[in-house]
Amino acid sequence: MNKKVLAVIVAILIIAVAGAAIYMFTGNNSETNNSNNNNQSNNSTQSNNNENESTENTTASNGGKTLIVYFSMSGNTEAVANIIHDKVGGDIIKLETVQTYPDEYNDLVDYAQEEQHQNARPQLQTIIENIDQYDTIFLGYPNWWGDMPMPIYTFLDTYDLSGKTIAPFITHGGSGLSKTPANIQSEEPAAYVTEGLAIYGSRARNSENEVNQWLSSLGF
Ligand SMILES: Cc1cc2nc3c(=O)[nH]c(=O)nc-3n(C[C@H](O)[C@H](O)[C@H](O)COP(=O)(O)O)c2cc1C
Repeated sequence: MNKKVLAVIVAILIIAVAGAAIYMFTGNNSETNNSNNNNQSNNSTQSNNNENESTENTTASNGGKTLIVYFSMSGNTEAVANIIHDKVGGDIIKLETVQTYPDEYNDLVDYAQEEQHQNARPQLQTIIENIDQYDTIFLGYPNWWGDMPMPIYTFLDTYDLSGKTIAPFITHGGSGLSKTPANIQSEEPAAYVTEGLAIYGSRARNSENEVNQWLSSLGF
């Protein structure tokens, strides 16, 4: 073969190989870039999600440090619970029992007395998830026979409130707090039980001033 022809063939081959190499290199790069971009956009979606999650978590824990939990049959204690909630925020939950209490007042009075004599622990329908997240628990109940209704004892038996602050509030017909803060303390020896608030049942819906004074004294 003529040397000139051979040189031309070799030159064409070199150009073809070089061209293919450049094409492949550029193509791979752009794929890599695309996949990087995809990864980046996935990552940014994830990090947005994470940001959202952490925002939610922050909100949940900020809003959830205080729990108002109460038992109420005729709505007086509930009214005070709502006033507290309006002022301090946090979570609020009403304790409901599995069995229903008698509607008629005298039947209820007898039923509650019997429960107390038996030192009963009526089963709660209400379940509180993640009680560990709360630092302060406002605990509300009516005065029943000079003590807390037995579902409150079930609540105190069910949850370990060690290290938490418990702020008791009661509505009553003349007996005030009775010995209920001391009873809470003996049920939860490792909790800090604050001074309690006692509101006449008949004043419950108009008790904003007393509630606010009490909350201020507790630092709220
Ligand atoms: C079963 C029962 C027992 C009660 N015992 C007392 C009592 O010993 N002393 C008292 O001051 N009030 C007593 N009361 C009145 C309630 O404490 C009062 O009406 C309270 O505000 C009711 O709260 P609630 O509407 O959240 O259920 C009793 C009421 C009931 C139904």
